Amino acid sequence: MSGVSISGLRREYGTAIAVDRVDLEIGRGEFVALLGPSGCGKTTTLRCLAGLEVPTRGEISIGGVTVFSGGSSVFVPPEKRKIGMVFQSYALWPHMTVRGNVGYPLKLAGVDRRALASRVDEVLERVHLRDKADRMATALSGGQQQRVALARATVSRPRVMLFDEPLSNLDAKLRLSMRNQIRELHDEFGTTSVYVTHDQEEAIALADRVVVMNAGRIEQAGTPQELYTRPSTAFVADFMGFQNLLRARVLQTLDGELRVGIDGTPVQLSVADRSGRWTEGAELTLAFRSGHVRVRPGSPDDRAPGGGAERIAGRIRRATYGGGSMRLLVEVGNTSIRAHVDESEFSRFSDDDLRAQRAVSLEISADQIVPLPPGDLPLSTEAILQLPAPDPSTI
Ligand SMILES: Nc1ncnc2c1ncn2[C@@H]1O[C@H](COP(=O)(O)OP(=O)(O)OP(=O)(O)O)[C@@H](O)[C@H]1O
Ligand SMILES: [Mg+2]
Repeated sequence: MSGVSISGLRREYGTAIAVDRVDLEIGRGEFVALLGPSGCGKTTTLRCLAGLEVPTRGEISIGGVTVFSGGSSVFVPPEKRKIGMVFQSYALWPHMTVRGNVGYPLKLAGVDRRALASRVDEVLERVHLRDKADRMATALSGGQQQRVALARATVSRPRVMLFDEPLSNLDAKLRLSMRNQIRELHDEFGTTSVYVTHDQEEAIALADRVVVMNAGRIEQAGTPQELYTRPSTAFVADFMGFQNLLRARVLQTLDGELRVGIDGTPVQLSVADRSGRWTEGAELTLAFRSGHVRVRPGSPDDRAPGGGAERIAGRIRRATYGGGSMRLLVEVGNTSIRAHVDESEFSRFSDDDLRAQRAVSLEISADQIVPLPPGDLPLSTEAILQLPAPDPSTI
């Protein structure tokens, strides 16, 4: 049985469309992250699931029960959906103790005092707050308050847990530990979880499946590894941290490989591709990670055609020490490639090699480059292309 099923979901606000044509099947016990930039419709989707928002159109079912249907006018109110929610703002009742907050959903459900007390103690134990049970909720730190919110959301053993950026207000260290607790609770209780975040690292670390949203629509859904290694659009690649997105053109299609020319440069590269979707002359975007670019000092001495990756001649525009590595922005023709050199490789370079204006040669192997539809390049990349070259006299 499906944990959650969403089909054809649409939510309009006046003339604005917050969510459109969202279809999503979430398996029972699955942990799904909704990932995307601000305003892409994550919260709206979650609120529609919770019943806090009435969709304009579509169908939603939870645990096989229809909770919303635009077609047959079904709307099950939030308190009947057997869901637990944790928000970015902890939304605790300030006049109640920790115990009072956590026990409140059970009290509403008419659970008797003794069962309520033991259930509350059990979840407080689980989130390591048993010793704070009689404190006022607001007399706790942010991280502790969020654990109270988590305990309150899980106390009645919901079928589905919904999280809306629950860790955004916490410091980095606490975020990591809360992240682990959330995943442990999910596994232990066997709930189905839908977790909204704009942090790709968080989504990848937590979820079984990541759904990337863009402008109200699902852009791509897949396992963290699929999205991390094989994004299907430039938007997803950018969101998954591919630092290089370059416009290019197919020069030749070969068996399992494309020869491509990078726009604004004389550079030709081989790109692994078995899809057969590309034709000669087609425009595309090439995505690859800066960590997959091998950097050598000086100009390429040989072009090494055939076996191995070709060497690309470039000139360092900017070199920034990034803690454990040197990040480089390398000018190649009229475009720029981002690369980084790990500290472990520093011995291959002299002190002077990794400075602005130095010549370098770059290599990217064919299977580390993802060919994508041309699409709109994200602003960050366009902005880099328009940066003026630094003036050598100021360096
Ligand atoms: N009550 C509302 N009235 C009008 N427009 C709304 C309302 N709620 C959301 N929107 C619009 O719907 C779109 C999606 O909003 P939503 O809150 O779902 O985005 P989000 O992905 O959660 O963003 P964020 O990461 O900033 O929280 C936005 O353009 C937003 O301005
Ligand atoms: Mg939101």
